[in-house]
Amino acid sequence: MDKELHQQNGDGQVRQGDTARQEDSGTAERFSRSGFIFAAIGSSVGLGNMWKFPYITGQYGGAAFFLLFTICLLLIGLPVLMAELTVGRGGRGSASSSLVRLSGRKIWGGFGVLSIAGAFFITSFYTVVAGWTLHYAVLTSANALGKGTDFAATFFSFIGGWWPVAWQAAVMLITGWIVVRGASGIEKFNRILIPALLVILIIIMIRVLQLPGASEGVSFFLKPDFGKLTNESLLVALGHAFFSLSLGMGTMMTYGAYVDRRQSLGAATLAVGGGDLMYALLAGMIIFPTTFAFGIEPAQGPGLAFIGLPAAFSAMPLGWLFGGLFFVLLAIAALTSVVSLLEVPVAYAMERWRLSRSTATVSTTVLCFLFGLPSALSVGGAVGWLHWEGKSFFDWVDFIASNIILPLGGLMVTLFVGYAWKHAAQEAGLTAGWFRLWLFLLRYVAPVLIVLVFLHTSGIWSF
Ligand code: PFF
Repeated sequence: MDKELHQQNGDGQVRQGDTARQEDSGTAERFSRSGFIFAAIGSSVGLGNMWKFPYITGQYGGAAFFLLFTICLLLIGLPVLMAELTVGRGGRGSASSSLVRLSGRKIWGGFGVLSIAGAFFITSFYTVVAGWTLHYAVLTSANALGKGTDFAATFFSFIGGWWPVAWQAAVMLITGWIVVRGASGIEKFNRILIPALLVILIIIMIRVLQLPGASEGVSFFLKPDFGKLTNESLLVALGHAFFSLSLGMGTMMTYGAYVDRRQSLGAATLAVGGGDLMYALLAGMIIFPTTFAFGIEPAQGPGLAFIGLPAAFSAMPLGWLFGGLFFVLLAIAALTSVVSLLEVPVAYAMERWRLSRSTATVSTTVLCFLFGLPSALSVGGAVGWLHWEGKSFFDWVDFIASNIILPLGGLMVTLFVGYAWKHAAQEAGLTAGWFRLWLFLLRYVAPVLIVLVFLHTSGIWSF
């Protein structure tokens, strides 16, 4: 570790000569400083925060789980996030070539391609759920889901039909339309939508906190009961910290390549982690008060957002307005994440096959859409034969990307910065003390925990 530190100058700052040399090669696209923060928060805040986080918190122990999630985010999530950003900015290439450029070894490029494939897979099914949110935004705001609706039947008949394909196409079109504008287009889009997301969250939160019975939901979410925690809670919390920060899929490496050399990556990492946590907290402060006020089971799983919550909104005054806002919120959160996911294979295609941004975007968008079709059609059973071993095509792609590729991608970047890349200190620009802590976590703590998560999520070892 000390050898790396010697490669820094006295106060731990980056040596100008080295960085100026690296600046010459790689992509020329750049984010502005604040634009990058918005884009990275946009990537991390998504359906993971608004849809998955509330129901896993409900399943795995409420406030105690939230605390565990926060600890995992701080101890493992942030160091790995910082590692991805540092590799991206150091290599100035795609999630594959940056690794090769920095290590001088081709094998790392192959690991990078695995993450890029992971981003492609996640895009293909994440856009399906993003499409559902658009459909529900239209349904609720048009007041089509009034009292007396059978919410479960409505949801299952929707996802079991062909309409999800049209909505998924809409999501892909919007995403492609943003990604084709490159880093500057991506930052403009996030700069508007991320603050809008915050405003909508606060409006809905103020409304639902006034519901009778809401305070029970607040205390379920904020008062820890450690008796509810299990080994599994820890692994789920850690896995979710990775998913929530968009790690292991090359997204943060790809965005890192567009970060200005003078921007502090340490400060950016804290801002993104803080943003992610804040949006998760606000989402919880909407979902738990609402579910408790209307006697809905918060641990009901994925159906919570599309069955339980529409039922709750329909029962409150001006429910169409708040329900509509809620689904617009989900749709925005999803879109800003999909943009970052699509950018990963697009950046790779531009570099690998020397394609223009427009050709790379159009072809990747079309391929992703085609690959996503079986996901859209299998999850609700529109096409019955897309099932194997009790899992739909959607579930399989989710399983392979989220439970296998994501931890492996996270492990790869951890080992790369911890052991293989000799100049991480210069690029990271941390002070000596912070650098030591970062490297310690990346070398000894994160890999062990990530391997445990992998063994658990892949089903190899259940404990
Ligand atoms: N972080 C996103 C969420 O919480 O919904 C999901 C995600 C985006 C995962 C990008 C992975 C990724 F590369």
